[in-house]
Amino acid sequence: MKVVTTIRDLQAELAAARSENRSIGLVPTMGALHAGHASLVKRSVAENSVTVVSIFLNPTQFNDKSDLERYPRTLDADCQLLETCGAQIAFAPSVAEIYPEPDTRHFSYPPTDEVMEGARRPGHFNGVCQIVSKLFAWVEPTRAYFGEKDFQQIAVIRRMVSDLGFGLEIVPCPVVREVDGLAMSSRNTLLTPSERVIAPRIYAALKASQEFARSHSVTATIQYVVSRINAVEDLDVEYFSIVDADTLLDVHSWDEAPSVVGCITVYCGSKPIRLIDHIHY
Ligand code: PAF
Repeated sequence: MKVVTTIRDLQAELAAARSENRSIGLVPTMGALHAGHASLVKRSVAENSVTVVSIFLNPTQFNDKSDLERYPRTLDADCQLLETCGAQIAFAPSVAEIYPEPDTRHFSYPPTDEVMEGARRPGHFNGVCQIVSKLFAWVEPTRAYFGEKDFQQIAVIRRMVSDLGFGLEIVPCPVVREVDGLAMSSRNTLLTPSERVIAPRIYAALKASQEFARSHSVTATIQYVVSRINAVEDLDVEYFSIVDADTLLDVHSWDEAPSVVGCITVYCGSKPIRLIDHIHY
């Protein structure tokens, strides 16, 4: 696997694949890679001739600077994992390489980027679109792979792809969970041992709510999930929204949309760590 840090070297590495019309898979990441990322990379390796994995902790998508400062950084271990997954290129640029000038572009895809995370993390999806649009322009991937854990992010990126006319396929990949159900996330390493013990209660409540929802309304199901999680000391639900999986707008009855999903964000512990998850109904 080649590790490149500049756009020029990235383009040089991709030149042969492009001239031979070979397919290119892109897996954008912020590093601190885990088995969830590995599943995206393996899928890309299986479906494309060349797989590029970007490792870039993108500052413009962090509205909370302390969140950025404490985000885990594990480049050497990341590269080792990518080798074992069969990726051909790791692109690990500096902030100056990506943003030689401040990025003043503004992306707006309402309602997908305004609800839930968009409402609570102002500028977050704008930053995601800034970096992902640059990566798409430089790599020109055939396919780009994103984890469904960030369900809303995929909806926003789909809108951007259609808006800017990128000719690529977005491939959503299923959430990978720990054996106790906790959705894998780079932020899980920040949990203390006691927080790690209670964190799986989030998915346990979501899972139980699938059964509950069969005989209860949307409103009752929201109350069920929120009260069950808030009953656990050190878990605090920021929001739980049951939405149309396509528009991400709230639904008020189960038959209001062809596909309905419950999206949750929970604060865990005293620092606190923000954990997100979702469930399909
Ligand atoms: O999902 C992430 O890790 C990030 O938001 C992404 C897509 C790599 C952009 O920085």
